This record gives sequence, structure tokens and C-alpha cells, in this order.
Amino acid sequence: MAENNIPLHVGIIMDGNGRWAKKRLMPRSFGHKSGMNRMIGLAEHARARGIKFLTVYALSTENLSRPEEELDGLFGLFRKYFETNIKKLYADNARVKVIGDPSGLPSDIAGLLKKAEENSPADAEFTLLFAINYGSRAEILNAVNRAVEGGKKLTEEEFSSLLYTGGIPCPDMIIRTGGECRLSNFLMYQAAYSELYFTDVLFPDFTDAEFDKALESYASRERRFGKIK
Ligand code: IPE
Ligand code: IPE
Ligand code: MG
Repeated sequence: MAENNIPLHVGIIMDGNGRWAKKRLMPRSFGHKSGMNRMIGLAEHARARGIKFLTVYALSTENLSRPEEELDGLFGLFRKYFETNIKKLYADNARVKVIGDPSGLPSDIAGLLKKAEENSPADAEFTLLFAINYGSRAEILNAVNRAVEGGKKLTEEEFSSLLYTGGIPCPDMIIRTGGECRLSNFLMYQAAYSELYFTDVLFPDFTDAEFDKALESYASRERRFGKIK
């Protein structure tokens, strides 16, 4: 695979955990556990492929209205990830950046997220953007309100810097597993020129080889950004 055809930034909508568990007659939380393990593996794989930024959609703002039992399972997984697994990420000279609104989460998780960012290596070669209690509309609205407070008209560049993703390049490709062809409030501003890749594969089954298929698809596309060839 030609190196210049590797995307700098990939976003993944990790969908299909619940259906994956249901197919196995297991509770949805079993699917989330399996999905979390897959996310950890994919982050390592993406990094090995030369990707510099990986954004994982772990929890949408709308997901917070799911039953308490499911949310408790998810929060347990997030705790374990940020208390334990994260150390491996640091050891690999990678950092975490959280996008979303931590204030809407249990306070101990908000604290862990803050610590995860603070403890990240300063000279990291890879960034895992963790989208949790994330919603594009809230992100854009928050940026607009901050712009209004500033009291002057902004350029696109200045506006982008007010988004949660400020300073991070826009995603070159957005992958959605689980068969749905929609963005579900994910990076709507940043996705203006992202290549979209939809697959029916449920997230826990989205192997490194499946990820490579998405990279191959990306490499074969012609990005024109409105120009002619
Ligand atoms: C995505 O999987 C993970 C989260 C939303 C937290 P789902 O839980 O939406 O799985 P399906 O779509 O019901 O299969
Ligand atoms: C999107 O999946 C959110 C995450 C993967 C975290 P959903 O399952 O919540 O999306 P909808 O409800 O099918 O649009
Ligand atoms: Mg879903």
C-alpha cells in the first residue's frame, strides 16, 4: 500500500455491538466488552499502518438515554480502559484527547478522562481521540457561543479552532460498521470532505483485515475537493 495514500486521520463509528451480542443470545453489555477489546486492537493496528489520528465514537450524547443497566456496563468498561489499558497506549508514545462533554458523565469518569489527557506524553506520535458524550450539534453550538462571546467575525480556521477537535486535522476517512449509512451526530462539521466507508460488519467482528479493506478503498479514491482533474 503506497504510504502517501494512508489517511492521516480516520474516524470510526463503532456500531453493532448490541446486535453482535444478540446473535449470540448474550446481553448487550457482552457486545460492548467485545467492542472495547476490538477498539484497543484497532488503535494499535491503525498506528502500525501509519495513521496519526484515530477518532473512536464510544458514546454519543443520545446514547445517554439508554437503559441504566447498559450504561453501567459501558461506564465500567470506560473505567477499566482509562485506569489500566491506557498505560499501554502511553508506553507506545501515544496520547489521548477527549472530545465531548465530560460534565454529563459520572464524575469519577470525568476525572479519569481529564487525567488521561494530562498524563499523555507531550511528544506523542499518535493521537487517540476518544469521543464520549459527544454530539456534533452540541460541539458546533458550543463553538458558536464562544465565538459570539468573542464579539468578532471569525474565519473558518478560527472557527475550527473552537471545536472540540481544535488543532486536529479533519478526518480523511470515516468508517461506520454495523450496516447503517448515517453519521448519527458524529463530526458533522469536520466530515465536509471525508471519504465515507460503510460496512455491514458488526464492530466486534471488524478485524484488522477489515480495517485494511477500508484503507484499500480509501487508497483507490480520487479526492477532488471540488476541483477538476
Ligand atoms: C455501538 O453499538 C456502541 C454504542 C452505541 C455505545 P450499539 O450498542 O449501538 O449496537 P447496535 O447498533 O444496537 O447493534
Ligand atoms: C452511533 O451509534 C453512536 C456510537 C457508535 C457511539 P448508534 O447506534 O447510537 O446510532 P443510531 O441510533 O443507530 O443512529
Ligand atoms: Mg447502534
